[in-house]
Amino acid sequence: MAPIGAGAGAPHSRIMGVGAYRPSRIVPNSEVVDAIDSSDEWIQQRSGIKQRRFATDEETIQMMSVASSRIAIERAGITPDQIDCVLVATVSHLLQTPAIAPAIATELGTEHAAAFDISAACAGFCHGVALGSDMVRGGSARHVLVIGVERLSDITDMTDRGTAFIFADGAGAVVIGPSQTPGIGPVVWGSDGEQYDLIRQREDWRDVVGSDDSPGSGVMPHLTMQGNPVFRWASFTMAKVALEALDAAGVTAADLDVFVPHQANMRIIDAMARSMKLPEHVRIARDVAEQGNTSAASVPLALDRMIEEGDARSGDTALLIAFGAGLAYAAQVVTVP
Ligand code: COA
Repeated sequence: MAPIGAGAGAPHSRIMGVGAYRPSRIVPNSEVVDAIDSSDEWIQQRSGIKQRRFATDEETIQMMSVASSRIAIERAGITPDQIDCVLVATVSHLLQTPAIAPAIATELGTEHAAAFDISAACAGFCHGVALGSDMVRGGSARHVLVIGVERLSDITDMTDRGTAFIFADGAGAVVIGPSQTPGIGPVVWGSDGEQYDLIRQREDWRDVVGSDDSPGSGVMPHLTMQGNPVFRWASFTMAKVALEALDAAGVTAADLDVFVPHQANMRIIDAMARSMKLPEHVRIARDVAEQGNTSAASVPLALDRMIEEGDARSGDTALLIAFGAGLAYAAQVVTVP
């Protein structure tokens, strides 16, 4: 048996830079209420959402990804040719294959970086951070670009009362690279396929196209969601997962400076913070009010806003957690770059 070289990774990993792209078109609640017989007051009270942003035709998945990534790469102090792998978390790239990641990697000017998409819905970005961190430590990449990007407006039924006011568009990116000290804690992640149908694409492509036996629907297979059970699962089960991620990293809630949960809904964010008994000094991301729920993009967008507004400072200890369709979830403690 020939000995196989093990390869050498970095001792630890860290987030080196964060970037974001927020689409140009601001959509206030007043623009979505008529089609769902709702009101600005109801939406704000039940979700905390005041407005969201929808991408224009020019603001494609690729365009928003490249724009957010260029900022993250510049802030990381590296150049695109130093990126060895591009991971794109998304559920709204509308081509079944190929993945969008290779096109993004090439437009950015990476030198044939490995590139693939992650399908873990709203949890996809935190899955990407976990994978990127392990790649850097395992030696399969020195720098990994992780992007969360969505155009949920393309796959949302604007007449569906349960989803039309929630989902939105945008992109966020981070560069993960080597570190002498731990900058990304162990991931706590998992899934629950018993709740597979709670958030899902309404039907698969065969049902849209149809067959000899049955005509297809011919309409875009929109997202559907059973809001109530999702709300309960997110508020309580996910708070436990968040506490497990603190434990795994060997820190307590008192050590935290910043909490960046998936921006699903302000009531879920508040319920999680209460259930985790987060101390007063912990600053909590509340990007959902301005941005809506951008699925895979929500955590990097929220982290970026906190950095931009001075609520998250370099060296701060932050807890990230994301959860959604699958059901899938992932959480980790990170150091703010
Ligand atoms: N506008 C106005 N009224 C609405 C409405 C809307 N868009 N949607 C539902 N209602 C009404 C219902 O008809 C019902 O009226 P009734 O009490 O007279 O029968 C009432 O509001 C309550 O409906 P319900 O479906 O129980 O609402 P809810 O309190 O569960 O709130 C959500 C709905 C979607 C805001 C909530 O379930 C939620 O936030 N879920 C989690 C969603 C989420 O964040 N998902 C992403 C996870 S990744």
